[in-house]
Amino acid sequence: MGNEKIKYKGQEILENLPEILKQRKYHFEIKGLTKSTRDIINQAVQGILDQIGANPLTSFHLFSGLMEALLNAVKANARFVIFKDELLNKLTSSGTALESEAEDLLNVILETEPLRDAMQRYIVPDKIKKTVQRILTLSDKRRSKKGTLSQEEIDFLEMVKARTRAYQLKISLKIEIRTAELYIRLRNDSPIMGLDLQRIRKSRERHAELAREGRSGEFFRPDFLDEKESAGFGIAMIDEGFYNLALDPLECFDIQTSKHATTVYLRYPIEALQKIEF
Ligand SMILES: Nc1ncnc2c1ncn2[C@@H]1O[C@H](COP(=O)(O)OP(=O)(O)O)[C@@H](O)[C@H]1O
Ligand SMILES: [Mg+2]
Repeated sequence: MGNEKIKYKGQEILENLPEILKQRKYHFEIKGLTKSTRDIINQAVQGILDQIGANPLTSFHLFSGLMEALLNAVKANARFVIFKDELLNKLTSSGTALESEAEDLLNVILETEPLRDAMQRYIVPDKIKKTVQRILTLSDKRRSKKGTLSQEEIDFLEMVKARTRAYQLKISLKIEIRTAELYIRLRNDSPIMGLDLQRIRKSRERHAELAREGRSGEFFRPDFLDEKESAGFGIAMIDEGFYNLALDPLECFDIQTSKHATTVYLRYPIEALQKIEF
């Protein structure tokens, strides 16, 4: 059949890249963001961009945006694992619930937005942040074989891996070459928590205001810093990439979230990708 789907794993993707690039639709399932994964994505995306005649400058903006979005997805899934675990610990150790009830209680909390958000404040965000950072650092270290991990570190990574699998947290990246645009859909199986989405929207609006005055870059100046405390720079960087391509990120880049997943849509008009000067 003409539309048969072929699956490749890791390095196989690179080995079969010329064949793969004959397609117009691609679907990647991503587990982490180690150097080798980044390299594979880098080369595959580069191949796709070459196919549509994108120029290297625009490719750079697209690629850095995609990496920011991917890193957010990886971090969010890791954070969700730690968050759930912490919550489960608190529920059982505080005597709030029997171990058998704790899982059910956890699900109720996660399904109920106000409860979930309240719990997010109850569980120390800094600790979660540090743990997520540790996961990323150790994963990279393990993959690059630069340093040896201690048994405790190996066990820790295995625990995270097992939980991620148990909670069925995945990251999916779809790329499609459409008639007039390159369409990218990135989904991770964890929600944007608490007030973050509102903060992101407000922050993006602010960035857009500056862009309308032709000074989007000023958004990154220190005097704007305190406003972005919990809405990082990543999303702003993706927006900035669109501004640099003379595109409106509020039109081309959308973030949706639900109880179970967060989806990022990035759309790049092919014409804009092919344009030579800016
Ligand atoms: N894919 C995602 N899934 C869940 N939450 C997300 C996702 N992307 C962003 N977020 C939330 O939005 C916040 C802001 O993201 P970003 O601007 O990239 O800053 P940073 O990653 O430095 O925190 C993140 O801290 C996170 O809470
Ligand atoms: Mg980020």
